[in-house]
Amino acid sequence: MTRPLRLGVLGLASIARRRMLPAMAACPDVQLTALASRDVSAAERAAAQYGCQAAPDYTALLARPDVDAVYVPLPAALHAAWTRAALDAGKHVLAEKPTTTNAAETRALLSLARTRGLVLAENVMFLHHAQHATVQRLVRDGAIGELRSFAAQFSIPGLPDDDIRHRPELGGGALADVGVYPLRAALHLLGADLDVVGAALTHGAGRQVETAGGVLLQSATGVTAHLTFGLDHAYRSWYELCGSTGRLVVDHAFTPPADHAPVLRIERGTGSEELHLPPDDQVTNTLTAFAAAVRTPRQHPEPDPMVLRQAELLDAVRHRAVVHHARPATAHHAARHPA
Ligand SMILES: NC(=O)c1ccc[n+]([C@@H]2O[C@H](COP(=O)([O-])OP(=O)(O)OC[C@H]3O[C@@H](n4cnc5c(N)ncnc54)[C@H](OP(=O)(O)O)[C@@H]3O)[C@@H](O)[C@H]2O)c1
Repeated sequence: MTRPLRLGVLGLASIARRRMLPAMAACPDVQLTALASRDVSAAERAAAQYGCQAAPDYTALLARPDVDAVYVPLPAALHAAWTRAALDAGKHVLAEKPTTTNAAETRALLSLARTRGLVLAENVMFLHHAQHATVQRLVRDGAIGELRSFAAQFSIPGLPDDDIRHRPELGGGALADVGVYPLRAALHLLGADLDVVGAALTHGAGRQVETAGGVLLQSATGVTAHLTFGLDHAYRSWYELCGSTGRLVVDHAFTPPADHAPVLRIERGTGSEELHLPPDDQVTNTLTAFAAAVRTPRQHPEPDPMVLRQAELLDAVRHRAVVHHARPATAHHAARHPA
C-alpha cells in the first residue's frame, strides 16, 4: 500500500482551522505531520489536537525531512515567497488561491516547480466537486442548446476592519479573494480562450482595496461571461449557463459543505426540471487529487494551465478596470444634497 502524503501546514489560518486541518485528519491519502504558526503556543495546541508535531517557525517546518508537501494558507501577498521557499526546500506545494498576486510571479513559480519535478497546485476546491462535471456533460449533450452566455457571482458579507482582505500590503481586495471563483468557473466551463473586455472595481468607503467588482469576458466564439464579486454583500454563490434553448443554474456553486445535496435547475421554454445530485466533499477530493498528483511518477509535472491563465486575467482586470472610490455615506449624502 502507498504511504499517505506527509503534509506540513504554514500558518494557522482560518481556512486551515475551519476546513483543511479537519479534512487532512480524516483523509486517508494524506497525513498531517507538522504545522507552524507565528504563535508557537497556538501551534503546540493545534499539534496536540491533531496528533502531529509543532515546528518552531515556518522555516523550521520547511526543513523537516518528514514533510513531503506543504499547504500554504497565508495572506495572498505572502504566498509567492513561502511557496518559493517550500519548492527550494524540495517540497510539493498546495498554495491557497490566488497562487500569487500577479501572473509574472505565478509563471515563475510554476516553472520552478516543473524544473524541480515538484507539484505546485492551487487550492481552488470547487473544481473538485462532482456537480460541475455533471454540468459539463449536460451542456455537451445539448441540454440548453448552443452556449451563448455565462454569469456567476461570489459575494460574502462584511468582514472586520483588520481582516487580511482589507489590507493592500497583504494582497487584499475582492478581486483576488472572491473574484477568482467566478473567474475560475468561467475558465473551467468556457475554456481558456477568454479575454477581458470590461471591468469595474469599487473601493468601499474608507477601504484601501476594492471591495466589489464586475467583469465582462468574451470568448473567441463570442460567448460572454459576466462576473460579480464582493466583500460586503449578501452571500451569493451561483452560476448560470444560458444557451439557445434553455438555461442551467447552479446554486451553492463554490463552497458547498460536504453534506449539501446539489440541485441543478434547467429551464427551457417547455418547462423546468430539477436534477438532484448526491452530496460530494470537495475538500477531501482536493486533498486526494493533490496526493495523486504527487504520487504520479513524472520527471516534470505539468501544472494546470488554468492557474496561469487565471493569473493573467486577474492582471488584465486590474489593468482595464474603471475604479470607483465610494465616499463615506454622510459625505456622499452631503455632496449630493448640498444644504
Ligand atoms: N480555498 C478556499 O476555500 C479559501 C477560503 C478562505 C480563504 N482562502 C485563502 O486562504 C488564505 C488565508 O485566508 P484566511 O481567511 O484563512 O486568512 P487568516 O485567517 O487571516 O489567516 C492567515 C494566516 O497567515 C498567517 N500570517 C503570516 N503572516 C501574516 C501577516 N503578516 N498577517 C496576517 N496573517 C499572517 C497567520 O497564521 P499564524 O499566525 O498562525 O502564523 C494567519 O492566521 C488566503 O489566500 C485566502 O484567499 C481560501
